[in-house]
Amino acid sequence: MSPKVRTVWRCQQCGASAPKWLGRCPECGEFGTYVEEMERSERNGPSVSRLSASRPVPLSEATAEDALRIPTGTPEFDRVLGGGLVPGSLVLLGGEPGIGKSTLLLQVSDGVARNGTSVLYVCGEESTSQVGMRARRLGIKGDGLELMPEVDVEAVEHAVRERRPGLLVIDSIQTAYDPALDAAPGSVSQVRACAARFMRIAKETGLPTVVVGHVTKDGTIAGPRVLEHMVDSVLYFEGDRDHAFRIVRAVKNRFGSVSEIGVFEMGEGGLAGVSDPSGVFLGQRQEALTGSVVMPAMEGSRPLLVELQALVTPSFTPVPRRVTTGVESARLLQVLAVLERRAGLSFGSLDVYVSIAGGVRVAEPAVDLPLALALASTLRDKAIGLEVAAFGEVGLTGRIRPVSHTASRIREASRQGLTRVLSSLPPGTPVVEGASHTAVASVEEALERLGLAVASGKDR
Ligand code: TYD
Ligand code: MG
Repeated sequence: MSPKVRTVWRCQQCGASAPKWLGRCPECGEFGTYVEEMERSERNGPSVSRLSASRPVPLSEATAEDALRIPTGTPEFDRVLGGGLVPGSLVLLGGEPGIGKSTLLLQVSDGVARNGTSVLYVCGEESTSQVGMRARRLGIKGDGLELMPEVDVEAVEHAVRERRPGLLVIDSIQTAYDPALDAAPGSVSQVRACAARFMRIAKETGLPTVVVGHVTKDGTIAGPRVLEHMVDSVLYFEGDRDHAFRIVRAVKNRFGSVSEIGVFEMGEGGLAGVSDPSGVFLGQRQEALTGSVVMPAMEGSRPLLVELQALVTPSFTPVPRRVTTGVESARLLQVLAVLERRAGLSFGSLDVYVSIAGGVRVAEPAVDLPLALALASTLRDKAIGLEVAAFGEVGLTGRIRPVSHTASRIREASRQGLTRVLSSLPPGTPVVEGASHTAVASVEEALERLGLAVASGKDR
């Protein structure tokens, strides 16, 4: 029986489909993203879950995955995964081109292979000699590691069933191709079908699989966001290519915490894990400069010290600029409003630039207080001492709300020699030895303490 072929129009951004072309996707609102694709109804056959979980299992007999995790030989990567690769799991590693995905996975593959687990590395994107060159650069001999320059998922599945590797790497999902589909590689149908296929293989054979996904400039996995829902874990490579530091962050993890990060440094010999990121990010601070303050941010279970920088200059545009790097611009706007109304600091005719040094991104509300201090410092042209660190969420009233992990943030700051920490102090916070904590209830009070308030200061 020949499978039925039908055409659908599919949004290349979100994967929504329609029987005819649409100028604007009703699901995600993008314009001009609809592309005609052929689909065979046969493909919609048995679902992944039906094939994998064929038999009910008593909960008491369900095996604990932790015992079976495969260490990757790269501790920072294990940390993001939640302690190593879980058998049968499908992990998506996303990131911009050139950020280091292939480098990391080659290093991880080598680590796994050296532990005695064979690895099949499918390089649809590069030739074997290109990968070989990278391996030489990384000093990888490659015993137990097989390369397969293949884009056809059929052939990959065949190789997996024949060679039975202990880890499968697909670099990348955008080049994977299912010949049963009449759509171009990288299209939503292809990416989705190929991911579903790898998911099925992973679940059926217990083979841990890592797929690489390129990310577009707006930060989504190229084409289908649907991919994120299909896989077990989604890891993103962050940082920019011009900085040596790279962060791998878990944004979804069925087998671990989603807030863990791994910090790496790209060097001549590939990616090296950074075990003391705070020290590295603060390394260059020699003297107190205006507009700079340190914040103990939380990344998963560990505190990370980052340097917040702000700069104001007279504006020559009708609408003054507000430019942020590493901080959400909504947070900046809110903090500016609070400073204006509660502390009498006016930024109305000034361009404002805010950034976090080293290409780090901080999304948590605890960035509010250090942001306010850095802004006040640049506006008043008064430096904040090198021994100062601050964190706390600032409400619209100007009051500082406590945030999580107060004690570990203070501990990390004092460990790095930042002995004066400003934040709100929730009742019951343990006393941290060696740190001098200043409890502040409002932005005004924090500014006052540092001599940055409008009314305080004989410098007026
Ligand atoms: P790559 O891992 O190929 O990135 P992706 O797979 O995410 O597209 O390469 C990352 C960049 O890192 C590349 O521009 C070259 C550079 N690099 C180093 O600086 N040192 C090294 O040891 C290696 C292998 C690459
Ligand atoms: Mg690559």
